[in-house]
Amino acid sequence: MSKMPTLKMPSLRNSILSMTAMATVVAGTLVTAPARAEPTVEVLHYWTSGGESKAAGALRQDFEAAGGKWIDAPVAGGGGDAASTVLRSRVLAGDPPNAVQLKGPNIKDWAAQGKLATLDEVAKAENWDAILPPQIRDVVTYKGHYYAVPVNIHRVNWMWVNPKVMEKAGVAIPKTWDEFNAAADKLKAAGIIPLAHGGQPWQEGALFEDVTLGLGGPDFYRKALVELDAKALTSDTMVKVFDQMRKLRGYVDDGFPGREWNLAAGLLMNGQAAMQIMGDWEKGELTAAGKVPGKDFVCAHVPGQFGYIVNSDSFVMFSSANADRAAGQKLLAKLILGKKFQETFNVLKGSIPARQDMARDSFDECAVKSMDDLKTAIDTNSAVPSMAHEMAVPGAVRGAFLDVVTAHFNSTMTSQEAVKRLAEAVDLAK
Ligand code: BGC
Repeated sequence: MSKMPTLKMPSLRNSILSMTAMATVVAGTLVTAPARAEPTVEVLHYWTSGGESKAAGALRQDFEAAGGKWIDAPVAGGGGDAASTVLRSRVLAGDPPNAVQLKGPNIKDWAAQGKLATLDEVAKAENWDAILPPQIRDVVTYKGHYYAVPVNIHRVNWMWVNPKVMEKAGVAIPKTWDEFNAAADKLKAAGIIPLAHGGQPWQEGALFEDVTLGLGGPDFYRKALVELDAKALTSDTMVKVFDQMRKLRGYVDDGFPGREWNLAAGLLMNGQAAMQIMGDWEKGELTAAGKVPGKDFVCAHVPGQFGYIVNSDSFVMFSSANADRAAGQKLLAKLILGKKFQETFNVLKGSIPARQDMARDSFDECAVKSMDDLKTAIDTNSAVPSMAHEMAVPGAVRGAFLDVVTAHFNSTMTSQEAVKRLAEAVDLAK
């Protein structure tokens, strides 16, 4: 590309400047320079718990420090189901927020509907092709164009343990589901809640996928929860998964229905409960409350077979004809994948960076384990996308899974009946 020559001769440059000034005076009118865009974003997100809002605050701070105007549009409710409802109604009303926390196949859906701005310009300037792992690149692109900017990688299959409580009851961190059940029986007998849990469909869906991975392994997980293979969905392994879900129902306290995940984390922190199965946003919550990994809590692999259930947060930008909004979207996209933000945000959020060229020094032992395990999982084909966290299947199919899993968890439905209903519901939804 040919470059405009810079004006090197001061005399020529000055005379042009004074001619411009004269023209302004001669015209005798107030000439104002064209207004510079004020980068603006209205951000729809669901990061409202203690740890989450600290992390979201870091993004806002960076954006404002870079001269942007941030309009906050938070929708409370872990897992984002409430935020999805708000998004759909805003789009129907013709007034979508211009930056939206969205992930998985939903990105391609909205892109296919022509609603999203491409982020190709920023992606090219910032070299996203080189810094993102292919698994994440696939999720945020559609027909070769970038439509979302990934923030992080969250691991879903973590178990958070209160070591003091475990010690008091004389139990070790379980490595298999049988060990888990034995430990939970002991904890229960000692008057401790074995499993801190919140009874919301996405939380039960996440427990279900964790048990599926643990009992079936990554290949089975992929067949059942990603490829929706009828044989896998009706297999004996699936019956065993529901058997274990029934066991888990016996290990939660009576206050579980409708409870938010961060309130369940409170039970773990204050020693009322011994374990919680939750993605590593839990770590953001625990550290925001001053708890220290390795001392106040321990991060362990969910019992059963090795694997890595991947969940990655990202933002899409709904197209906007407004220059301030368009400038805001570009600025936000650039900042999110910048090294500084990737570090600050992910340390607070409990996740690991989406970009692959980051130093590890600021990350704690759980994050480093997550980074190492992700690498091993990718090398051994054991990384699988989260069904419950909208990374694996379309919304209607996820809804079918969550409906049956929750109906089973909250009733006396047998495992055989649950498997039958699941296969039917998934078949109808796909
Ligand atoms: C999101 C996390 C969030 C969690 C609880 C997950 O689906 O990916 O960023 O912290 O839900 O709200």
